[in-house]
Amino acid sequence: MSNLSNDLSTLGQAAANFIASKHRMLIGGEREFADSGETLPVYDPSSGEEIGRVPSAGASDVDRAVIAARAAFERDDWANLTPVKRERLMLKLADLLEINAQEFSELESVNSGRGLVNARLFDVDLSVDYLRYMAGWATKIHGKTVGISAPYMPDSNFFAYTTREPIGVVAAITPWNVPLGQAIWKLSPVLATGCTVVLKPAEQTPLTALRFADLIEEAGIPKGVINIITGYGYSAGAAMVEHPDIDKISFTGSTEIGKGIGVVAAQNFKKCTLELGGKSPVIVLEDADLQSAIPGAAWAIFGNHGQNCCAGSRLFVHHTIYEKVLEGVADIAKNLKVGPGLDPETEMGPLVSKKQQKRVMSYINSALAQGATIVAGGEAIEGPGSYVQPTVISDVDDSMTVCQEEIFGPVLVVMPFSDVDEVVKRANATKYGLGASLWTKNISQVHRLLPKLKAGITWVNTHNVLDLAVPFGGVKDSGVGAELSEEAINHHTQIKSTIIQI
Ligand code: NAI
Ligand code: MG
Repeated sequence: MSNLSNDLSTLGQAAANFIASKHRMLIGGEREFADSGETLPVYDPSSGEEIGRVPSAGASDVDRAVIAARAAFERDDWANLTPVKRERLMLKLADLLEINAQEFSELESVNSGRGLVNARLFDVDLSVDYLRYMAGWATKIHGKTVGISAPYMPDSNFFAYTTREPIGVVAAITPWNVPLGQAIWKLSPVLATGCTVVLKPAEQTPLTALRFADLIEEAGIPKGVINIITGYGYSAGAAMVEHPDIDKISFTGSTEIGKGIGVVAAQNFKKCTLELGGKSPVIVLEDADLQSAIPGAAWAIFGNHGQNCCAGSRLFVHHTIYEKVLEGVADIAKNLKVGPGLDPETEMGPLVSKKQQKRVMSYINSALAQGATIVAGGEAIEGPGSYVQPTVISDVDDSMTVCQEEIFGPVLVVMPFSDVDEVVKRANATKYGLGASLWTKNISQVHRLLPKLKAGITWVNTHNVLDLAVPFGGVKDSGVGAELSEEAINHHTQIKSTIIQI
């Protein structure tokens, strides 16, 4: 124990009881252990202490889950449900999550290391909203009628239309940065469109998905529609991706793993959406309102500890205001209150694991070795927790590893620029293309520069704002396809064309 460790006695009774319970997966409506009997450890990253064990699924468990999902997809009690009945089930699920919001926030905070308020907003409240938003889509999925000519059949008349059919069995694999939030991003369009799913949360953060399995049963979602398995990526995850009876893979995680998944999907002609890494630029022009740009740039990187796929990890500042912005962001970094997630005073918790702490530190050390300057932070905090200080680095050049690779931690590089066209080229000069923000009052510059930024989402005078109604996806190595909004419906349905001779 150290003063950076969570005090688990402050947990509510419900969360404490769940943590102490025997954790089982959800397969075909039954609560199951892994066939092998194997389990994997779950930690509280503020203390490094094991807080439980969950099943470690292997290929046979994945097979059972896919068989259950396939059977449910083909069963009348799901396929024949009217859209409004699917909508009602989703609304029930949303209500149940809302009722248990405090418990879910505590579980997520303890397991992922993030602050209670953060977990509440992004894992719980936004998930309730997304379930409700997608519930609305269940009754609004439709095709078009099409007037056709078929000139080579001049004596015939036709009626033609399109329909959108559910794609089938989805394999959903999620990361640890916003664990329940990411799971709900995957589950909601599945339910709205009438697909079925096998979900595997990240091995580091499986608790909220397993607790959510209780709500799925309580809401009365038919057995096998949602199956939740826990396990490592290299075993359970790989078996899901390679399973021949999966129709679509929906993955969020690293570019490295996503690339491999994309290859397997392409070889088997599976539909595939990939939400991968980023190295998103934040560009502050000479005329920007620094009152909002300075905290905005700090929030862009330090929000969720930098464990955020569109984290603003590269800050480009016009040279005339460079010193002022650098100093302002560094001041915020130095004053952030670092501590355990359950402490209400905490502004930044530990990273998700010791492994992630080491990984982030190796990036900071590589920058130092290449001659960069640490302006704030720069160190891991000694002790059993996986803390890294909020870090601001200057005197870097674009080619350094620290400026090119996704760090996924609270590490910002700050660089001056003098020419706006040149800075756009530099902003685009990584393999990623997820987010980008521009800070300026100059409307002409906004419209001139935004189309040149290669990113799936661009912001002006803000960063990291996502909305359920706005598509979210990346270009280049940041991914394929999009989540949220009507796009998620399109990615879970297959268009069918029908032509009737009349
Ligand atoms: P990862 O990509 O290995 O893990 C993400 C998910 O994929 C987990 O559920 C994991 O079990 C699963 N997985 C891993 N290997 C798999 C395989 N061969 N087949 C199928 N599923 C597999 O990410 P990891 O190792 O946890 O983090 C490493 C780095 O990845 C981070 O430092 C960060 O840069 C990046 N990352 C990016 C995320 C994003 O949202 N863009 C989320 C998580 C990680
Ligand atoms: Mg990995």
